Amino acid sequence: MPSSVIKLPLKLRLLVVLFRFIVNHSRRQNGTVNRRLINLFDFKNPPSKTPRKGVVSSDNVIEASRDLWFRLYTPDTTVIGGGRLPVMVYFHGGGFVLSSPSSFAFDDWCRQLVRELRTAVVSVNYRLVPEHRFPTQYEDGFDALKFLDDNVDKLLVNVDPKLCFLAGDSAGGNLAHHVAVKAGEYEFSRLKLMGLIAIQPFFGGEERTESEIRNSGGPLLSLEDTDWYWKAFLPNGSDRDHPAANVFGPKSTVDISQVKYPATLILMAGLDILKDWQRKYYDGLKKAGKEVDLLQDPNAFHGSYVFEELPGSAFFVKGIQDFMQKHLNKENC
Ligand SMILES: *[C@@H]1O[C@H](CO)[C@@H](O)[C@H](O)[C@H]1NC(C)=O
Ligand SMILES: *[C@@H]1O[C@H](CO)[C@@H](O)[C@H](O)[C@H]1NC(C)=O
Repeated sequence: MPSSVIKLPLKLRLLVVLFRFIVNHSRRQNGTVNRRLINLFDFKNPPSKTPRKGVVSSDNVIEASRDLWFRLYTPDTTVIGGGRLPVMVYFHGGGFVLSSPSSFAFDDWCRQLVRELRTAVVSVNYRLVPEHRFPTQYEDGFDALKFLDDNVDKLLVNVDPKLCFLAGDSAGGNLAHHVAVKAGEYEFSRLKLMGLIAIQPFFGGEERTESEIRNSGGPLLSLEDTDWYWKAFLPNGSDRDHPAANVFGPKSTVDISQVKYPATLILMAGLDILKDWQRKYYDGLKKAGKEVDLLQDPNAFHGSYVFEELPGSAFFVKGIQDFMQKHLNKENC
């Protein structure tokens, strides 16, 4: 379905036009990006110690020299009362190239998750491509998790570290997967990964799938975009079958069936060009004997969840809520 058929409210159409402008004009032939242009339009929200719609947030440095930090969101405890909260460690999307936890769309989205899900959220700022390529993002993500594990009592007040979920959207979903694989080989002292929530995760490969061809004109993500993102992210000389992109592909190096891997929820959208890669991810996890759920919103496109105004956003939030509840209930019996 061509993107022109997707009806968006005017404000969102303008945001899409602005986003396309930035993406198209910031990329250079020589593989670098115009960071000044990107930053100029990366509108940011500050953290907020006073509750904003029932959510408080603060920025916390992990390692200043590599700009590794996270924004911690918690529900206003005076409103929700006692009880210990689960914690969701979140990786934002943006093709590994764009955005940060403070970018307004991701800040709004994380606050929506906190409000609706009654969870703390730790949104990680990892270094970006092309200035820093694979595997920098996976290392930053995993180090953030280790830092949380080491500093649970200092950082995560009112949080139960045994109720930890990994989550991410798009490139952040890819990141969450690879962090989960690393975490499977590591003994955390306090954190326990109960689940992984992959929201329209960014996977790929050399093959051109049907959804890549059919949905190639999505408003926020085109085939040209994904090709560019992979080229900028993967090691020089690799093709898209590199195992970072094609995790169950011909060059796959990790046998997931042998990895301690958390129960997974994959959220898909009918108009996403990445849909077929997400289905392969689902099939791969299933074949490896992992617990995995798949939920599809037939009318959503890539990235549409960040627009709280669109009905698909609430659909995804409800899916995440049911998944978390299912696993939290298991823990309690
Ligand atoms: C890439 O192009 C930009 C602008 O044309 C230039 O400023 C930059 O130095 C180039 N970088 C490399 C690595 O060639
Ligand atoms: C990538 O590899 C090619 C061929 O080996 C080489 O010519 C090129 O300079 C490399 N580019 C970077 C950015 O390292």
